[in-house]
Amino acid sequence: MAAHSARIFAIVVIFYSSYIVGIYNAARASSLMQLAAENSSHHSVEPQSHFLTETELEGGRSNSRHPRWFPFYTIGRFSNALCTGNNRLTGTCVLSGECTDTTGVAAGSCSTITNQAVCCIYQRTCGASTTYNNTYFYNSNYPGTYAGGGRCTIVITPPDSSICQLRIDFMALSLAPPNGDGLCNTDALTITGGSSRVPTICGENAGQHVYVDFNGVTPITITVATSSSYVFNRIWQFQLRMLACASSTLAPSGCLQYHLSSSGTVASFNYASAASSSLNTIGVPGTRQLANLAYGICVRMGAGMCSISWSQVSSDTYSFTMTNDVGAIDPSLLATAAVQSQDCTTDFIIIPNPLQGGVALAGDRFCGLGFSATTSFTKPFVLYAVTDGNEDADISNRGFYLSFSQVACPVI
Ligand SMILES: *[C@@H]1O[C@H](CO)[C@@H](O)[C@H](O)[C@H]1NC(C)=O
Ligand SMILES: *[C@@H]1O[C@H](CO)[C@@H](O)[C@H](O)[C@H]1NC(C)=O
Repeated sequence: MAAHSARIFAIVVIFYSSYIVGIYNAARASSLMQLAAENSSHHSVEPQSHFLTETELEGGRSNSRHPRWFPFYTIGRFSNALCTGNNRLTGTCVLSGECTDTTGVAAGSCSTITNQAVCCIYQRTCGASTTYNNTYFYNSNYPGTYAGGGRCTIVITPPDSSICQLRIDFMALSLAPPNGDGLCNTDALTITGGSSRVPTICGENAGQHVYVDFNGVTPITITVATSSSYVFNRIWQFQLRMLACASSTLAPSGCLQYHLSSSGTVASFNYASAASSSLNTIGVPGTRQLANLAYGICVRMGAGMCSISWSQVSSDTYSFTMTNDVGAIDPSLLATAAVQSQDCTTDFIIIPNPLQGGVALAGDRFCGLGFSATTSFTKPFVLYAVTDGNEDADISNRGFYLSFSQVACPVI
């Protein structure tokens, strides 16, 4: 019974939400629509807000010379459902004609109700603008590399005021490295127009992500500026997710990064266990860390979770090398040279109200060449990363690469 009324409710919801979209789609679909038997194993994501722009809506209206086609009511459900294309990218399930009209790429079917529905992937490169959720932005020549020169931008405009935030996933991001002082003075990724500031990023950042709040007025612009005088094979592919103000996955405002899982890893930008090949201003092997940052990495507190534990990724000897001379220490001793002190004033992380081995620490800053497992009960769960602009004493630093794990509250 419950399933039956839920289905009726869903159909009613779909009917209304598809009212506008349906006019457009019905005109396109014409007699091609075939209703297949209801497939009980088919799980369509609930329609949310649609992403047709005004122009498209107008085009849709003028196209709809046959309003009597409107009762193709099931069409609307495709216009907003998320789908995974046969290229493993995230798309939107729409009629194939609409995908073509919006210069999407059809990546397989996405509905058991009609074979006219395709998983439409929006892929854009330099000079594009988009209002589509899950647009992928990549370098020209992708999946090949780009040799550098000029600026490549994309402008992201939310379709309406129900969108508050943009999550940018760097599926691939390889730009020229920072100099030995951590400055992105060859290549630079900048993200502007949001209400939250995103630091300038360069180097190796595949797997990293950032959140930016829309400010309600201007679009967000992503710019990748590269220098042709530096020989390097650049590559990038970003997934651009728009998040509704009402979304349960919205990051708390101000968190540059946000992890939704109960355990995982975090790393400083441009982290890798290999040393930087650049020298710093005093001519010694430079840092991989980006200079002048101060940001928060937030972790969503899971249901029934009380604390979060942080530790070095043990498979990587260099996974906590934030200050001092990496070259001056036997690599086997690296992780033992932990500094936990308010004396950390240049490059450090902050874990609020920390405990080690159940004992509260006097300070909350960590730097040096090692990090001992540390737990915090303070909510929200945030790790702050801070770097300054002087890397003179920071020889061959890599940054941080830490695991986190949320710990459930004790059962009383
Ligand atoms: C129902 O959907 C599933 C998964 O999408 C598919 O494997 C199956 O063939 C479909 N069945 C019918 C009758 O269309
Ligand atoms: C955009 O797509 C993501 C999945 O990548 C989804 O979680 C999010 O809810 C979508 N945004 C809107 C406004 O539908």
